[in-house]
Amino acid sequence: MNSQDFDFVAQLLRRRAGIVLTGDKMYLLESRLAPLARKEGLPSIDDLIQVVRARRDERLITQVVDVMTTNETFFFRDKTPFDHFKEAIMPALAPARRGQRIRIWNAACSTGQEPYSLAMMLDQSPLLAGGVPVEIVATDISDRCLERARQGLFTQFEVQRGLPIQMLMHYFTQQDDHWRISEKIRSMVTFKKLNLMDPSFTLGKFDIVFCRNVLIYFDAPTKADVLNRIASCMNPGGFLMLGAAESVIGITQAFENSQDRRGLYKLSQKTAKVA
Ligand SMILES: C[S@@+](CC[C@H](N)C(=O)[O-])C[C@H]1O[C@@H](n2cnc3c(N)ncnc32)[C@H](O)[C@@H]1O
Repeated sequence: MNSQDFDFVAQLLRRRAGIVLTGDKMYLLESRLAPLARKEGLPSIDDLIQVVRARRDERLITQVVDVMTTNETFFFRDKTPFDHFKEAIMPALAPARRGQRIRIWNAACSTGQEPYSLAMMLDQSPLLAGGVPVEIVATDISDRCLERARQGLFTQFEVQRGLPIQMLMHYFTQQDDHWRISEKIRSMVTFKKLNLMDPSFTLGKFDIVFCRNVLIYFDAPTKADVLNRIASCMNPGGFLMLGAAESVIGITQAFENSQDRRGLYKLSQKTAKVA
């Protein structure tokens, strides 16, 4: 691939998904685009890029962006965020609800392990929500991931990563060489396509946002923009959970650090008043 083609795809990705692709990622581009070229019946990546450039075919552009997303995820990833959920977030929110439902948004949910982890936790500890209904909305830009997430079908490798064996036995049934999540847990999560680059989000207001391991792909102004738009669709007293390598510090004042809990932020009171 020549450098002009690389720049073309890098710009496309940045514009469409906010993802920054640095010059050292040529290998990544090639390894991800080669299977797509084959699937489209094109002899090489160069031909694929030529077709994208010439035809501006929306379907193909969407697929190029989709295959370039990194979808690494696993059940109960990093553990600590789920401890925060159980020990700090739900105990702070649930008593104040007086019957009103709690809404959770899992932004950038990949293939579903993250929202299903939350759903299993809630199912295991009904007292966590203090008797109020909880809604989980999980979104991603990738149609490929969303399709897999909605199926709730996981490989042996995937269920071996982070999922306690008791939960595997309780919530999954084996289907050939895959494991299917129970209908009860599956139905607790609604999956929707959403691009974090969209100028506004139309999913209503949320009390909890898990947005982990996606901001790392964006540049600083995009991170600020996304975080401010997330803040604008949160209820006062809302919580934001970021990934281990992500922070709001120096990026936005819409959230306040939660002192002793890494990765956990509260919607700042000033932001809550403006919203
Ligand atoms: C590394 S995964 C993280 C999954 C999960 N949150 C976790 O921490 O395990 C990043 C996800 O972000 C999604 N993503 C990337 N750019 C996005 C965008 N602009 N809008 C929405 N999702 C995006 C990718 O499709 C991918 O599934």
